[in-house]
Amino acid sequence: MTHPRAHGRHDRALRTAAAHFDRRRFLTLTGAAAALAFSTNMPVAGAAQKPEALPGMIAEYPFTLGVASGDPTPSGVVLWTRLAPRPYEPAPGNGLPDARVLVLWEIARDERFLQLVRIGATWAHPEFNHTVHVDAQGLEPDRVYYYRFRTGPWISPPGRTRTAPEQGALPNEMRLAAVSCQAYHDGYFTALGHLAHEDVDAVFHLGDYLYEYAVSPTGGARAYTDRTLPSWFNKETVTLEDYRLRYALYRSDPDLQAAHAAFPWFVTWDDHETENNYAGASDENGSPADGFLLRRAAAYRAYWENQPLRLPQLPQGPDMTLYRRFHYGRLAQFDILDTRQYRTDQAHRGRWHVPGPEVRDPAHTMLGATQERWLLDGFRGSRATWNVVPQQVVLSRRRNTATAASPLSMDAWDGYPDCRERVLAGASAAGVRNLMVLTGDVHVHNAMDIKADWDEPTSRTIGTELVTSSLTSGRNGSPRPRNWQALMDANPHLRFYDGRRGYVTVRLDSEEARADFKTVDSVTAPGAALATAASFVTVAGDPGLRAV
Ligand SMILES: [Fe+2]
Repeated sequence: MTHPRAHGRHDRALRTAAAHFDRRRFLTLTGAAAALAFSTNMPVAGAAQKPEALPGMIAEYPFTLGVASGDPTPSGVVLWTRLAPRPYEPAPGNGLPDARVLVLWEIARDERFLQLVRIGATWAHPEFNHTVHVDAQGLEPDRVYYYRFRTGPWISPPGRTRTAPEQGALPNEMRLAAVSCQAYHDGYFTALGHLAHEDVDAVFHLGDYLYEYAVSPTGGARAYTDRTLPSWFNKETVTLEDYRLRYALYRSDPDLQAAHAAFPWFVTWDDHETENNYAGASDENGSPADGFLLRRAAAYRAYWENQPLRLPQLPQGPDMTLYRRFHYGRLAQFDILDTRQYRTDQAHRGRWHVPGPEVRDPAHTMLGATQERWLLDGFRGSRATWNVVPQQVVLSRRRNTATAASPLSMDAWDGYPDCRERVLAGASAAGVRNLMVLTGDVHVHNAMDIKADWDEPTSRTIGTELVTSSLTSGRNGSPRPRNWQALMDANPHLRFYDGRRGYVTVRLDSEEARADFKTVDSVTAPGAALATAASFVTVAGDPGLRAV
């Protein structure tokens, strides 16, 4: 790993690492692939190093939170794990020393780890809650790999990942899944367990990876009878320790672990990873920004620690650059947005409201000037067939009555109409022919045509918006929620609406995109079956959803 802020000596780590791999295995690495990659995983320049943990200091199995990979490129992928012998316990009772721990990693072509292609060593630092981020490089494009970690006598479960195709290549297809809104206290992550058995190249998490709200000792709607969660989960997360423990609770879930271990994920956040409906430096109650930014810094730090993200995403205090761009050859460009950190405060406290001149204030923005420019520049520079925009809140207009002066959600893009118009006009001006927006947030499945004129159903269709329902948030849901008829009537471009829990899979090729809306009927009891509620295609060069 090339580490922009790496420092310190690697020699001792190199010797220790070499001693941990037996000689025969070590020698199976040949040629250029034999480079022993090292990273210090020490992202704070100039910080004093904690002492090294002595062998045997970790007396219990530490890979209780599984493994993950993310942000694949044609040559590399981030590998993640966290040492957590007692994941629900805060330090110092968590089974970890206040010392850095050497962690070895290996990447193989096969599930049995016989054909190793990369091995290395890194540090799990107590300052980063003993999380591990390896930016593994030198991999081949468009290829499945297996990876695992080791520390002392302990070996992690294996993960499977996949690199992206070469930038100039035109792959036959790309398959993805979009997920969002996994409130632990609202039910079981059954849908993620099903997702682990899908055949996708990558998963996009569109926000609300966790919720800040209290989780009761019986796990809320999970209604555990076989365990009692510690009392410190039964309060809202505010401090760094609160957020770290909350990630441990979530990542201890076996379905979530299975979905992470099966595919690389691209993650972005929405509000609940920090606090409901926050906007930039404003919390939902309009408290002084200084206090909220401290909380935001803690939330962002814990987010980075617990996700497979690279160093450019490492937060600096309350600031973290999460918007970023990826390519799957010339087939797809992904512009992953952050619609929380740079937005101006919502009009009408983010509620549904008839919009007035306040939403047309020139300073009112969803993306902030820098991210907006970056997005439009990305559209202009794109050579991809599909321009996919994974992001958080609903982009298309949603009325809840068929009257002209219908209330709209001031928290969604409806509350930031000028910014939306600039983005859509920018896409058209750049010649983007196949715009696909992936959205979460609203806890229902929606499929929508993005219209040039929302008031004119026969106007040009600019692209499609696929809104994935929650994984659990809102508990079980139903196919037709109470406002189903009203929304279908008031929004002709809304082609599909289902209020059950689930996720969306998308298959892209050079001719068309196909979306399948997957549902489970229940999340308050484990084991619900998976169904496909609806499927749509949109033809390349002729945007608009067609039911299949
Ligand atoms: Fe949510």
